[in-house]
Amino acid sequence: MRFDNVLTRMLGVRYPIIQGAYGWPGTGTSAIAAAVSEAGGLGILTTICYKNPDQFAEDVKQAKAATDKPFAVNFTLMKDTKFTNDWHEEYIRITLDEGIRTVFTSAYDGSVIGRRFKDAGCNWIHKCATIEHAVSIAKKGADAVVLVGLEGTGYKNPNQNTTLINMTAARRLVPVPLIAAGSIGDARGFVGALAMGAVGVYMGTLFMATREFQAPDKLKQKIVNQSILDSDYNRKIYGQDHGGRHSLACGVIDSVPPVQTVIETLVREAEEVMAELKSWGMAD
Ligand SMILES: Cc1cc2nc3c(=O)[nH]c(=O)nc-3n(C[C@H](O)[C@H](O)[C@H](O)COP(=O)(O)O)c2cc1C
Repeated sequence: MRFDNVLTRMLGVRYPIIQGAYGWPGTGTSAIAAAVSEAGGLGILTTICYKNPDQFAEDVKQAKAATDKPFAVNFTLMKDTKFTNDWHEEYIRITLDEGIRTVFTSAYDGSVIGRRFKDAGCNWIHKCATIEHAVSIAKKGADAVVLVGLEGTGYKNPNQNTTLINMTAARRLVPVPLIAAGSIGDARGFVGALAMGAVGVYMGTLFMATREFQAPDKLKQKIVNQSILDSDYNRKIYGQDHGGRHSLACGVIDSVPPVQTVIETLVREAEEVMAELKSWGMAD
């Protein structure tokens, strides 16, 4: 299947498939990002997962050595923590010096950092959890917005909506391309998001269950073995206390393959889903 849309053109990638940011120490690094980019998606390095800017600079070089395809950098901003615009200063300089073309901001208002990259001619994409924040950041100049549904991982906002509402209803309110996130983990979720109006998908839990993700096997097996029928787990996912654990995407993840296999499977099965729709007289 050939993908050619506003997102693949903006990012310079083969597939509109983006790997989520991971702020846990040592996880959102070149090991996963370069693998995703090399397989045709967009990998992301997450600044807050590094010990210091030197380690980040070294890892940008590692990513470049591992792939000649585009990858991005995420700047996670958290209110009332050390992760402010100022904290990111040195990481911003390195990202600009290294000529990285796409940056993501997330969580808190990313417009100060975003505008600096836009002034330098880069793509700026912001990730947020509510429709209100998506509308606001689009007005501040973001080129696209990742909207994370209630069923995704990350800290919850009381005004958060589901991925379905985000992509259908919010689509009419947000004036820039929307990227879907939140419990997407297979080809049906991928095709479904595109059908709902997203220009691409952004996935965290799925890429954690890969060989390249830098975490103990035990954690990956937890994703594979997690039952979404477990009411305690379900409450945690939808509760306000939810931190960086895996999402309900675990319901469609049953192995820990290499990234290349994950992306090839997504694309091949997306073709099968489209063929199924065509056999019903749809999507001709
Ligand atoms: C272990 C873990 C760490 C994460 N750390 C960050 C982070 O530092 N910054 C951020 O913007 N998002 C972070 N996220 C959220 C993901 O980037 C992404 O938005 C989320 O995983 C999408 O939902 P999904 O897991 O259902 O695909 C993290 C997610 C996980 C699972």
